[in-house]
Amino acid sequence: MPIIIRPARAEELQRAEELVIRSINDLTERHGFGRMATSRPPDFQLFCLQDDADGLWLAEADGEIVGFALSWVSGDLWFLAELFVAPGLQGRGVGQELLARTFEHARKAGATNKSLITFTFNVVSQGLYIRHGLLPRLPLYLHSGTRDALVGRLNGDKLRCTPIEPRAPHFELLAKLDLGALGISREKHHRYLLGDATIKGVFLHDADDCVGYAYISASGHVGPLAVAQARQMGPAFRTALDLASAGTSAQVSAFLPGVSEALGIAAEHSLRITFPMVLVSTHDFGDWTRYLPRNPGFM
Ligand SMILES: CC(C)(COP(=O)(O)OP(=O)(O)OC[C@H]1O[C@@H](n2cnc3c(N)ncnc32)[C@H](O)[C@@H]1OP(=O)(O)O)[C@@H](O)C(=O)NCCC(=O)NCCS
Repeated sequence: MPIIIRPARAEELQRAEELVIRSINDLTERHGFGRMATSRPPDFQLFCLQDDADGLWLAEADGEIVGFALSWVSGDLWFLAELFVAPGLQGRGVGQELLARTFEHARKAGATNKSLITFTFNVVSQGLYIRHGLLPRLPLYLHSGTRDALVGRLNGDKLRCTPIEPRAPHFELLAKLDLGALGISREKHHRYLLGDATIKGVFLHDADDCVGYAYISASGHVGPLAVAQARQMGPAFRTALDLASAGTSAQVSAFLPGVSEALGIAAEHSLRITFPMVLVSTHDFGDWTRYLPRNPGFM
């Protein structure tokens, strides 16, 4: 059966995401973690396609989508948000073909660093990335817990919050915080988050100083979150958990780097590790004591 690799189109993204979900759940079930992914609209994928169509590729066999890759570029960083092959077709070179196309995206965009986040328990993906010079640098843990374990129990320093608005001075502040924590500005990604009515974005203040930002989803998920100094991570994460637990979702979740002070706070409040993941990259970047990614694809 011939497999064609070609650019993805907007109207195919929903079907591509169905394949991604099938591939994730096959992997997580095989490794004893149960089903991880549930169906969702391909909003971020569509946003990425409209921003830069060079980063989205499909593998097709007999009219069926059997593989999908999505990469985005910000500044000098290329980031692979998704690379998935249909369970029955893995191990036959489709992933490598898709990866070659997305590497071409990095080359054309002039990116000097390549990175992504993958499952620690997937030796195939890690082996594939290591072979291409993307080395494991940082463990990350997806955490989740109940709102009830947090309400009224988040003792310790917290920060004052004000809403982030989509206007120039706010984008300047966000860029300054991202440049400090990650070494890149992510204005387009903030525009995406601020355009989603189910996500609330806040600046975090210590007295008169703006020391960070945090996003909290209606689903109870915290992130991304960034602070200007590592010592502000504890108060910032507590503040974000406080906002998440004040919402209507019974569950609260966050994606925490292995070097983050937020890990201790999560453990203290009975948040459980649900999935262990790892960030790989061609070069070191980011101060992960100052940043919490949103998820493996958005980073
Ligand atoms: C990861 C994935 C995209 C790779 O696609 P694929 O089509 O299965 O992979 P390919 O056949 O193109 O390449 C496999 C390569 O992985 C590497 N590999 C496989 N097993 C390995 C192991 N145990 N140790 C080291 N490297 C290994 C090899 O480089 C191998 O290439 P080779 O067979 O030519 O030596 C696919 O397996 C998949 O969708 N997995 C589930 C979801 C997932 O983890 N996606 C990645 C999210 S970031």
